[in-house]
Amino acid sequence: MKRLTAVLLAAVMIFALCGCAKHEETKTDSQILLGFSQLGSESSWRIGNTKDIQDQAANYGISLMMENANQKQDKQIDAIRRFIAYRVDVIAFSPIVEDGWDNVLNEAKQAGIPVVLVDRTIRTEDESLYKCLIGADFYSEGVKAAAYLLKKADDLGKDTLNVVEITGTEDSTPMRQRQQGFMDTIAGDERIHVLESVNGDFLKSRGAECMRYLLEKYGDTIDVIYSHNDEMTIGALPEIEKAGFTPGKDMVIISIDGGQEAIDILKQGKINCIVECTPMLGSTLMETVLALKNGEEVPRETHAAEKSFSDYDNLEEIGERGY
Ligand code: AHR
Repeated sequence: MKRLTAVLLAAVMIFALCGCAKHEETKTDSQILLGFSQLGSESSWRIGNTKDIQDQAANYGISLMMENANQKQDKQIDAIRRFIAYRVDVIAFSPIVEDGWDNVLNEAKQAGIPVVLVDRTIRTEDESLYKCLIGADFYSEGVKAAAYLLKKADDLGKDTLNVVEITGTEDSTPMRQRQQGFMDTIAGDERIHVLESVNGDFLKSRGAECMRYLLEKYGDTIDVIYSHNDEMTIGALPEIEKAGFTPGKDMVIISIDGGQEAIDILKQGKINCIVECTPMLGSTLMETVLALKNGEEVPRETHAAEKSFSDYDNLEEIGERGY
């Protein structure tokens, strides 16, 4: 009997230890515990964002319980429920899509845990379900992409420019706003025609697939490719070359993010313009966590300052990107 009790006790201890090991750090009484649900690892942007949040949590001495949802909203909802059960001090998450968060965020609200949206926003009738949003201004990214195109159109002096759009994950904030900003800016310019928008889900493999489909359907009538992120652009470029076209010359390539690999390709002339979207949101997130923990007011929205880089610029001036 004694032996059975010892075995059972050991099993319970191992189980408890495994539970703790899942998290980045365990919490001491004085430490702040942040639960963060990352939506996935679909791009170098996302991987850079995950690393920055981990680095900055360590920098600020904040314990981080991070879970990666591998592109599944259900997994994000489960992670948020675990954070509530664990009674973290603050919950942060990057919502994969905008709709469907009210129930779980109501649970966080009932538990008195403040919620911070990182990178993307949500759609809800109840504004009290989250404290604030830290992320890019995706609408203005779409505006910048279109502004570049209009300048290029003037220089090319053509009557018509046919655009194909490869969009990010359907119903996500960057997909919706990058599209809206672009469309609003080209609206009324009779030279610009959008032939089709296809969903590339922010993935390199899908970028390649979408490009194959678009080339098959529209061939050399495509003048411009507007891709919602670098990952999909990098997937699309070899397909353009395989079809016998030179990206950056036969077709104007416009991308978003500004990761190192894409910036190197921009310097080679195969991408014409990249609108920056920075993943370095970690220090703003940690400052916000500290402020919330101290009961201070925080700005409802914080957008990082972002640039764009194009074949009109001196590209040698662009430094190491860090993602
Ligand atoms: O939400 C930000 C977007 O998501 C980035 O542009 C993209 O690369 C990422 O996957």
